[in-house]
Amino acid sequence: MDTAIVVEGLTKQFDGFTAVDHIHFSVAPGEVFGYLGPNGSGKTTTIRMLLGLLRPSAGTGQVLGLDIERDAEKIRPQVGYMSQKFALYNDLDAVQNLNFYAGVYGVADRAARVQEVLELVGLREQAQARTGQLSAGWRQRLALGASLLHRPQLIFLDEPTSGVDPQARRAFWDLVYDLADQGVTIFVTTHYMDEAEYCDRLGIMFQGQLLALDTPANLKRTTLNGTIWEVAVTPQLPVLAALEKQPDIQRVSLAGDRLRVVADGHTAVSLQQLLAGWGFEGTVVSPTDPTLEDVFITLAAR
Ligand SMILES: Nc1ncnc2c1ncn2[C@@H]1O[C@H](COP(=O)(O)OP(=O)(O)O)[C@@H](O)[C@H]1O
Ligand SMILES: [Mg+2]
Repeated sequence: MDTAIVVEGLTKQFDGFTAVDHIHFSVAPGEVFGYLGPNGSGKTTTIRMLLGLLRPSAGTGQVLGLDIERDAEKIRPQVGYMSQKFALYNDLDAVQNLNFYAGVYGVADRAARVQEVLELVGLREQAQARTGQLSAGWRQRLALGASLLHRPQLIFLDEPTSGVDPQARRAFWDLVYDLADQGVTIFVTTHYMDEAEYCDRLGIMFQGQLLALDTPANLKRTTLNGTIWEVAVTPQLPVLAALEKQPDIQRVSLAGDRLRVVADGHTAVSLQQLLAGWGFEGTVVSPTDPTLEDVFITLAAR
């Protein structure tokens, strides 16, 4: 199979409101595909359509070669799904939770597979702890483990690290990479810009539309080539306020002892001249690398 997921014109309307608006993309087997967007941009709705849990209003999709409308019942047993409200039983320990889900998925070698998954998600030590007592980071790992019990070749992770501290998020992503190295295809949503960097390719969602789709590096290069500047100037705040009022400057923020300026159509010299006009002679303006946040804000503003 040369694509794990393909959608064409996928659309979902709720009472005339368009939550997902004619989306096109495909995901290759073994890819870590990120779906980045703020709350309400249509990420979960997309996943629910791909799993056959919601009927598209228009468009088509195939998951593992199966049609999302016609073959929905065949898709679900073959994929893993860690939903935003993944239900773990707080009164049960990790093993009991995994045993429960192994039963739900009809896993044959249940006891052995539960031990294997415990190992896989690094929860050996926590095996007997009540789930309610585990930290958010450990609970997310357990939820990931539960979604892997039936050895799916494709998993959907819907904001899996929401509310988890940065260190635990990092560890969770290490696990995601391990899975990808084993050939598992990952479709992961996030609203964290830093996490989006870890994806092989990234779709940027905003108000139901897929604004762009590429590798993080290409997104930065094609969206914002040479338009981000660091400006060493004091006092910072009045200059920041003045720059914000310029119509040809998209964004200004504080970055340590510099100002960070997103300015399509400016050069280092033109920015220096602007500042010189305000009485700041010889200000150092140097180009700097764009972040995915810059990309997102620029695309959303267009
Ligand atoms: N069942 C539903 N009925 C009506 N509106 C919905 C329903 N599900 C989602 N929406 C709306 O669709 C939009 C996209 O939601 P969602 O896909 O959950 O976004 P995200 O996962 O990116 O936060 C939101 O405005 C949400 O309120
Ligand atoms: Mg969501």
